[in-house]
Amino acid sequence: MVHTDQELPFSEACERNKGPILDVLRGYKLTGSVLEIGHGTGQHAVAFSSELALEWHPTDVSSYNWMMTERLALQSEKIKAFCQPPKALEVGSLPLKEQLPRTFTHAFTANTLHIMSAALAQKFCQEIGVLVEENGFLFLYGPFKFRGQFTSESNGEFDHSLKSRDPLSGIRDFESVEKWLSNQFSFLARHPMPAFNECLVFLKKGVL
Ligand SMILES: C[S@@+](CC[C@H](N)C(=O)[O-])C[C@H]1O[C@@H](n2cnc3c(N)ncnc32)[C@H](O)[C@@H]1O
Repeated sequence: MVHTDQELPFSEACERNKGPILDVLRGYKLTGSVLEIGHGTGQHAVAFSSELALEWHPTDVSSYNWMMTERLALQSEKIKAFCQPPKALEVGSLPLKEQLPRTFTHAFTANTLHIMSAALAQKFCQEIGVLVEENGFLFLYGPFKFRGQFTSESNGEFDHSLKSRDPLSGIRDFESVEKWLSNQFSFLARHPMPAFNECLVFLKKGVL
């Protein structure tokens, strides 16, 4: 089925947060390729790829890929030159390396770790390193808890509403995420973002 731009699923939050996220990404002077996990509506992929002149590789569970395919088809040739067609990647099915047999310079994911169960979020953190090249960055955007505390009352309410829909979902603790990633990544920076979100940046460790 082919939808018009107006008919495609659309995230108001993506429209609001894409500028602030772009500002953070620009600061890292990225080159090369980026793997995105959980592209959702595809708004971030089309907004970031050509702006940053990066070969952007959006992925999501296969049932979401059509949104990215259709949104990409509606973009300019310039954006299509940077943003690649989506691929299926589902944390928790096959090992990530088997699903995507290549590496990327960097990885980016927005608003996914609180949708996944804690077990899947842990699996993501423990496996993502095999897809990111040494000295590449991993950007995690979304709400996080710090030392077990929500950063706002609204995030506490959001966590409650997430759990009422799926008891296994929920806002993750920064400290857990950092620990799960620690075999392959070093924590580099926390960028507080609008609406009590965070952009957490990790650096893929090099060979000793
Ligand atoms: C709240 S949406 C966020 C979408 C988009 N990144 C954004 O910021 O608007 C969560 C995304 O995580 C994806 N997701 C959930 N579980 C996943 C899994 N196990 N593996 C890969 N992606 C997953 C969903 O399909 C969905 O696209």
